Amino acid sequence: MKIVQAASELFPFVKTGGLADAVGSLARTLADQGHEVSVFLPGYRAVLEHRDAAGAARRLRLKIEMGDVFLTGDVRVFSPGKNLTVYLICREEFFDRRGLYGNGERDFEDNHHRFIFFSKAVVETLRLLDSQADVVHCHDWQTALLPVLLRYAERRHGLTLALKTVFTIHNIAFQGIFPMRSFYRTNLPDDLLGIDGFEYYGQINMLKGGILFSDRVTTVSPRYAKEIQTAEFGCGLEGVVATRAEDLVGLLNGIDTAVWNPATDALLPAKYSAANPAGKLACRTELLKQHSLDPRFKGAVFGMVCRFAEQKGLDFVLANKNFFLAENCRLIVLGSGERRYEEALNDLAAAAPDRVSISMRLDEPMSHLIEAGSDFFLMPSLFEPCGLNQMYSQAYGTIPLVSRVGGLVDTVTDADEQPEAGTGLSFPPTAEGLLDGLERALKLFADKPRFAAVQQRGMKKDFSWAKAGLAYEQLFRDSL
Ligand code: ADP
Ligand code: GLC
Repeated sequence: MKIVQAASELFPFVKTGGLADAVGSLARTLADQGHEVSVFLPGYRAVLEHRDAAGAARRLRLKIEMGDVFLTGDVRVFSPGKNLTVYLICREEFFDRRGLYGNGERDFEDNHHRFIFFSKAVVETLRLLDSQADVVHCHDWQTALLPVLLRYAERRHGLTLALKTVFTIHNIAFQGIFPMRSFYRTNLPDDLLGIDGFEYYGQINMLKGGILFSDRVTTVSPRYAKEIQTAEFGCGLEGVVATRAEDLVGLLNGIDTAVWNPATDALLPAKYSAANPAGKLACRTELLKQHSLDPRFKGAVFGMVCRFAEQKGLDFVLANKNFFLAENCRLIVLGSGERRYEEALNDLAAAAPDRVSISMRLDEPMSHLIEAGSDFFLMPSLFEPCGLNQMYSQAYGTIPLVSRVGGLVDTVTDADEQPEAGTGLSFPPTAEGLLDGLERALKLFADKPRFAAVQQRGMKKDFSWAKAGLAYEQLFRDSL
């Protein structure tokens, strides 16, 4: 099949979260399965500076209609692997910036223009290349206009650019809501602005349009596919999602085992596997050392790597600070994001520098060392569409402590509830829930044979993308 992917992030070129990992792995998996895969990505500064994209050649010059003006842009192209081509949509005004969506303090004010331009540029590139895609697969609000833009462009030019469109929701909490008046930039007809179109409480909602106007809708775990049809998790779009229930499916992400495998991970001081787990201890020692914690410490080490956002349950961690200050354990957190969390976590580390260590930055190598060197990994999320770190944790013999939401339910089995099958500990998404998980973790840690059995089961699980890739392939074929 000819498959087009359009997304606002792509590992290893540009990443703020799991979206980049998911799209990067999916594209490569489909290419490995023999499909012809093109990925469209904004030509952010970070991508153009990336060494593997340095050779990207300018292929096309674009003139994009944006309301009553035409804006120019470039398409640069490179191929990071067999069957795989990356198209960078470049326009300095929009993408030559430090951040992807904002400057760290708040979102860029022209994000609607940036991503309307991006989506229109994808359509125009497909038209100029004159190649018909079997499937155009879009991800999250930034590309949610694409399905409807494609259909209108096809009508206008009398040609077929995509046989089918698929839209994947990675996180329904981010919807791309903008003032109604910005819609004229799309040059789409006003009759799309009604209640059964983009309109959302007097504004426009990009994600809503993606859900309504694509042929198939997917999300990143079976559990989340059910959750987003409820008021508790649907973030106001539960009714809209429910109208697509027949075309909606939850396909679990995989993990990229070329990047996340303790037996081959070059970022670790020692490699290890289920059959030969000894190297994990050296990783633990190095992790403690690098955080100025006593490397001979014998108690439980809890690790956490995440965006500092409410979603990730940091409030529950902070509510349990007495646990981390009093119990025989250490806490190591890596992340960045909202200032209130950075400050509160800093205060916690300052209160007990010999027990708690917080690092605030994006640090890919450190995220690997935390996965390898910790005994337990914390993911007490309020909601979690899929989540990747709980899968990395299991692969690395680190026992995940997760709340019972979204993809965490689909990927972690509680070891107390199912002693023969458990690979982690799970609890309700509350501060008390997390405390229960932490207390059970210490009991598990004290019971070495049981702890090792849970580790072993996790390490032997198959989270590879091969499985997930086949599920997408099947979905694409079914839709065709
Ligand atoms: P989300 O996409 O909601 O942030 P996921 O669990 O799907 O959550 O993916 C998060 C990804 O981002 C993981 O690969 C995680 O290791 C990575 N990550 C998050 N924060 C950092 C950080 N500060 N440094 C390095 N990697 C990070
Ligand atoms: C989103 C979700 C996360 C998911 C990722 C990749 O960022 O928050 O749970 O794993 O997308 O699909």
